[in-house]
Amino acid sequence: MSKKIEMNAGANTRLAHIGNDPHDYFGFVNPPVVHASTVLFPDAETMASRKQRYTYGTRGTPTSDALADAMNELEGAAGTILVPSGLAAVTVPLLAFLSSGDHVLIVDSVYNPTRHFADTMLVRLGVEVTYYDPMVGAGIADLMKSNTKVVLTEAPGSGTFEMQDIPAIVEAAHKGGAVVMLDNTWATPLFFRPLDFGVDISIQAATKYPGGHSDILLGTVSANEATWKQLLACHGALGMCAAPDDVYQVLRGLRTMGVRLERHQESALAIARWLEGRAGVTRVLHPALESHPGHAIWKRDFKGASGLFSIVLDGGDAKKAHAFLNALRIFGLGYSWGGYESLAVHVQLDDRQVAHAPQEGPVVRLQIGLENVEDLKADLERGLAAAGH
Ligand SMILES: Cc1ncc(COP(=O)(O)O)c(C=O)c1O
Repeated sequence: MSKKIEMNAGANTRLAHIGNDPHDYFGFVNPPVVHASTVLFPDAETMASRKQRYTYGTRGTPTSDALADAMNELEGAAGTILVPSGLAAVTVPLLAFLSSGDHVLIVDSVYNPTRHFADTMLVRLGVEVTYYDPMVGAGIADLMKSNTKVVLTEAPGSGTFEMQDIPAIVEAAHKGGAVVMLDNTWATPLFFRPLDFGVDISIQAATKYPGGHSDILLGTVSANEATWKQLLACHGALGMCAAPDDVYQVLRGLRTMGVRLERHQESALAIARWLEGRAGVTRVLHPALESHPGHAIWKRDFKGASGLFSIVLDGGDAKKAHAFLNALRIFGLGYSWGGYESLAVHVQLDDRQVAHAPQEGPVVRLQIGLENVEDLKADLERGLAAAGH
């Protein structure tokens, strides 16, 4: 970061300057995109000792360092690894801290591919997996076993947006000797800084808000001092490095993430409030709404809300959800979120074990993009009318 910027400057000021110092590279504002496998050493002695800043492409470049440094600053982390997708940002730290015979506690409202990884790969490697209620709070202490090595949290929960009492979970998990990880993709470090709340490892699908344009896959994993070395060792062992152009695009995206998030937040909240109490919608699952069961936790711990939430339709089944979705013209039907364009998806909740899905009707997740709110409302009116309201 440019030496002139204070660490306590406002979020948008820091986002505009973190990561690289332009004067390290002839004053060009943006860092170079370094495409590299081989790095040359000046002599055999330096090669033998590996005592130079860069040694091989998989172990970091000036481009990956710029983004990692930016994320360290945002997350308050000792170190950050960059991986090829948000899913890899979940699986790599789990592999770093779990061994055969260990037990892991995973929140039941977890992003479904994380569950798939746990139920297939982790189980195959001899790890015992237990899913817990997102509302468990300090009660997680009762689920801890002598071999519980990791507690994986995600707040709010995928699709249903349950909030978790992170400080209470951290206290109980640390008492039992477990590492706490949090998938912080929804809030980004601008709205929630997990490491400030005692979490050891903060996970970002940088594909979403940091990238911001639905054209990149990338993950970042930021660790505190206690966990950084072990995480870095696993990253190196797996060879799970990220491609330079994608890394550069995410650093580019970070520059505007603050202003984009302000707009996502404002539009999503306006639409969520407008949907509340509307015919055809029984519930709006958005933590910043006073009606949300996790609202008090959100207000206590988070600085803002992003643009993703769900609605529960008033009765019916998948057919009704499909009628709603098929009538939409602006909202695209697609996975992922955090881009500039609005998206909708029928949420599948049949994987839940303890956190039961809303029973009133189908759940539809909305990603509110940067379009005009009035146009998005008109589109949702079309959906509700097609669903029978
Ligand atoms: C909460 C959460 N974590 C992780 C991911 C995975 O990100 P990616 O699509 O980059 O693999 C997603 C993707 O939707 C997500 O919603």
